[in-house]
Amino acid sequence: MPDLIPVLDKETIAQKVDQIARQISSDYKDANLVMLGVLKGAFVFMADLVRCLDLKQVTVDFVRLESYGDRADSSGKIRVVQDVQVDIRDKDVLIVEDILDTGLTLEYLKNHLKRFQPRSVKICVMIDKFERRKVDVQAQYVGHKVKEGFLVGYGLDYAEAYRHLSGIYHLTF
Ligand code: IMP
Ligand code: MG
Repeated sequence: MPDLIPVLDKETIAQKVDQIARQISSDYKDANLVMLGVLKGAFVFMADLVRCLDLKQVTVDFVRLESYGDRADSSGKIRVVQDVQVDIRDKDVLIVEDILDTGLTLEYLKNHLKRFQPRSVKICVMIDKFERRKVDVQAQYVGHKVKEGFLVGYGLDYAEAYRHLSGIYHLTF
């Protein structure tokens, strides 16, 4: 049976989300912000984050990406299963993702978004897992940095399990 070792509890996550939200609210005060969540992993983080924002106006949308090939690992072969629905032309897009690992997914998405001519594209991740980075993608807003390991909970899954957990755990086999 796999073991779940606590990494971040509910309260710590809430503090980190609030910190990020303050920074976003200040940075995007006069912007035309579109928060773009990456499904499925970002759904919990996104829901918490938008409710902490102190902004008059914000648009929310989601994309769904699929990496085909390997399971736990990003194979680098990515396709868009559900594309952006709102008009992001000249808008300030903030991609919201659960975890940044090799960086291949977010690099792909950043490139994909160029065709819609957004004014700016930045990245917000709950977890920055930096050891396996393959491409130079940077997140401007980061909840928590870890070097390695497979994390679950707070939207993060292992084979579709554990997304519902309110804390973040290190999964060990
Ligand atoms: P990247 O393309 O390697 O940066 O991988 C990003 C995607 O891989 C994330 O959106 C997750 O779906 C998945 N992933 C990478 N590391 C983990 C992890 O520790 N737990 C759960 N999913 C992960
Ligand atoms: Mg994901």
